[in-house]
Amino acid sequence: MSRVAFGDRGLLPLIGGTPMAWIPADRSGHTGFHAKVESAGVGGMKARAAVAMLTGAALRGELAPGATVVESTSGTLGIGLAVAAKSLGHPVILIVDDELEPDMRALFAAFGVRLEVVRRQHPEGGWQQARLDRLAQILATVPGAYWPDQYDNPDNAAGYADMAREITDHLDRVDVLVATVGSGGHCAGLTRALRRRRPGLRVIGVDSVGSRIFGQPARERVMRGLGSSILPRNVVYPDYDEVHWVGPAEAVASCREVAARTCLAGGWSTGAAALVAGWAARRDPGARVVTVFPDGPHRYLRTIYDDEWCTARGLFESVATRPVEIASPNLVEVSGWARCAVVRDPAEARVRV
Ligand SMILES: Cc1ncc(COP(=O)(O)O)c(C=O)c1O
Repeated sequence: MSRVAFGDRGLLPLIGGTPMAWIPADRSGHTGFHAKVESAGVGGMKARAAVAMLTGAALRGELAPGATVVESTSGTLGIGLAVAAKSLGHPVILIVDDELEPDMRALFAAFGVRLEVVRRQHPEGGWQQARLDRLAQILATVPGAYWPDQYDNPDNAAGYADMAREITDHLDRVDVLVATVGSGGHCAGLTRALRRRRPGLRVIGVDSVGSRIFGQPARERVMRGLGSSILPRNVVYPDYDEVHWVGPAEAVASCREVAARTCLAGGWSTGAAALVAGWAARRDPGARVVTVFPDGPHRYLRTIYDDEWCTARGLFESVATRPVEIASPNLVEVSGWARCAVVRDPAEARVRV
């Protein structure tokens, strides 16, 4: 594999360095919050994690020059890995599932990425477990293949140190971090760096309804990106002061509201992050609230921003305007926006109140 096409380090210098947007007050009455606009960086938010995981593996001798990188993804990490791996001289195989949007498949094909498409969900572990099962088969057949394992690889979180630096270069103080949680990587990386400067930082995790991460039962989920049907080790439970679960109807309403008001648009996680960041800014008007908008709108033009698609799924029918409060993460199964101030590792039952 040659690296000369883009110069010695390919597109790596163009990753990150994203702008911070001020999202002003809306009709719900919040005072506004800051959002890191990750769609403005080459390869998107996950290119940061991808570079950290690949360079870390190369340094440890786990990834040989020119070796194939194999990863399971719902899309965003795939784009980041494609950019990072191309720049570093590695071919990529991505394990995706049937629900990956046609536009994303076309983009991966254009990037020269080999896609392995999983057609059936695992009965308990959903698409994620089905993709991981296929990944194990592929790893066994491709000599020297390297699996970054975004769910459990500490380099995923370490890849967000630069994002934290960019935030603190822009703001002298951050009081509240609102972060969507999938692998847990960006929340863990940002929390570690931001709490070093401000130990009292409050951290609010944003999960999807039907996700197992914070102790709810795993269900089929409409939303992609945030949420998980497995328990990633990159979720640092003691970091969180509270968790919110957001449903697809609220995420759609929030995406559309932010887009209409600012012309900034993104996907499910952007809508969920904006909803909860707005809530946090309303709850504490003096606090400086920061969140991350992980990706842009293009992947979602035929779903979140398509009236017919949303109507067919009942996503305009009932939208919560405030979270239902629950006393314990597994007390009741939530079906829409909910909040819990007790965060527990479902695997270890560690508690932080
Ligand atoms: C679009 C999108 N938003 C948010 C997340 C959650 O980020 P993290 O994996 O760092 O928890 C992901 C993870 O895949 C994602 O793809």
